[in-house]
Amino acid sequence: MEMIQEIIIPMAYLLSAVLFIIGLKQLSHPKTAPRGNQMAAVGMLIAIVATLVYREVIDYTLIIAGIIIGGAIGAYVAKKVEMTAVPQMVAIFNGFGGGASVLVAAAEFYRLATGVNAIPGFTMSAIGLSIIIGGITFTGSIVAFAKLQGIMRGAPILFKGQQVINSLLLITTFALLVASVMTTGDMANYVLGIIIVALVLGYMFVIPIGGADMPVVISLLNSFSGIAAAATGFVLANYALIISGSLVGASGIILTNIMCKGMNRTVWNVLFAGFGGDDHAPGKGAQVTAKPVKSYEAEDTVVIFENARQVVIVPGYGMAVAQAQHTVHELEKILEAKGVKVKYAIHPVAGRMPGHMNVLLAEANVPYDNLYDLDQINPEFEETEVALVIGANDVVNPAARHDTASPIYGMPILNVDRAGTVFVLKRSMNPGFAGIDNELFYNDNTIMLFGDAKDTVSKLVAELK
Ligand code: TAP
Repeated sequence: MEMIQEIIIPMAYLLSAVLFIIGLKQLSHPKTAPRGNQMAAVGMLIAIVATLVYREVIDYTLIIAGIIIGGAIGAYVAKKVEMTAVPQMVAIFNGFGGGASVLVAAAEFYRLATGVNAIPGFTMSAIGLSIIIGGITFTGSIVAFAKLQGIMRGAPILFKGQQVINSLLLITTFALLVASVMTTGDMANYVLGIIIVALVLGYMFVIPIGGADMPVVISLLNSFSGIAAAATGFVLANYALIISGSLVGASGIILTNIMCKGMNRTVWNVLFAGFGGDDHAPGKGAQVTAKPVKSYEAEDTVVIFENARQVVIVPGYGMAVAQAQHTVHELEKILEAKGVKVKYAIHPVAGRMPGHMNVLLAEANVPYDNLYDLDQINPEFEETEVALVIGANDVVNPAARHDTASPIYGMPILNVDRAGTVFVLKRSMNPGFAGIDNELFYNDNTIMLFGDAKDTVSKLVAELK
């Protein structure tokens, strides 16, 4: 038994940590991502089995019931969820992670508090941090979920003195934590206070953020859920939890940073500027001019496509909404059969979550080698005869390059306006996420193809056939 405790369990935890790290590395490329996911899952399985063997489990009944019920719900939701609803699914999963940290840390507190010895300062600090970060993650993620699911209005909820109140709530949680560590008396009331204030703070932290900024907030809360889990690892002296929590915490922060860079905004601006109103109301807050645009029917475009040597497809959020990815792949194959070179230009923040377009196109079996990053494809637009913009808007708005007054000024964009002809597929003149007009639509070389992206691409396929 001693050998299991001293050697086998730590080795199992080390193995699972190695699998997590290699898995994460592989997740950074679409080709290796599925294997990375499997490796990390195997790592988690090893960690769970090791923990169940190691800990003095009194009764496995509840644990097995939990695994079966939780696993069934997880599998069902993962199979059922629409691609466009993945951000809110991730939000709710993060929330559960944070909630679990609160429950485990609180349970450990009550277990230790009934013992003869007072809880040591280090353990009490870890319990407090676990509850604070986990509690903020729990209610914050529920608000993020509710905003994206349309249960709550997406628009920022702002009121006077909000940031002062939030700062006071944050100070209060840490003051209660310090008091709980310092006190020689009963700690239980402080712990209860920390739980309540942290839950309120999570709610207050997320309500001033617009629904459209939720993906960034979700990524940040994902990081918080990892940090809370790492703190819980210190409470339980469980290395696997400390390592996996730290990895989630670090990768969540990196992802948040990548998203902010892709939008040329800072995390502070996302959290405190009350930007990006109601994502569920297209055109809301729009500043669209009534200038004329050129609009064609699908059949008018055939000659232009057939005479092109290279077509660059630029997918955006609208392609995800229309679920047009399979039809787009069909169009690509038809063009290639006609000798046209087809490439996909992927903007880092196209869609509503990191890797959104990559996942959709992979689902439609588009070869990875056809996907090009912004830096790779931008120099090619000048030699491209046709840029086909499918449900993308902000990521191709030239105002980002030169209009210092534009909210997206400085955001790196795909330079589709430099292609010979630009076809833009969307349903109306409504703006995208940023709620601003797109000067691309009024250019001489831009032709609008109005309609649902899937319908329009189907018509293009039929015409080109
Ligand atoms: P958007 O600028 O949001 O534009 C999407 C366009 O798709 C809309 O203009 C809409 O126009 C059109 N559309 C919607 N449904 C459609 C349908 N069924 N058929 C055809 N068109 C449809 O998208 P984008 O260019 O992908 O840019 C993404 C934006 O989201 C950026 O501003 C980015 O900063 C922001 N954002 C991204 C992320 C991540 S990580 N990806 C995270 C947070 C924020 P109609 O209504 O006229 O059809």
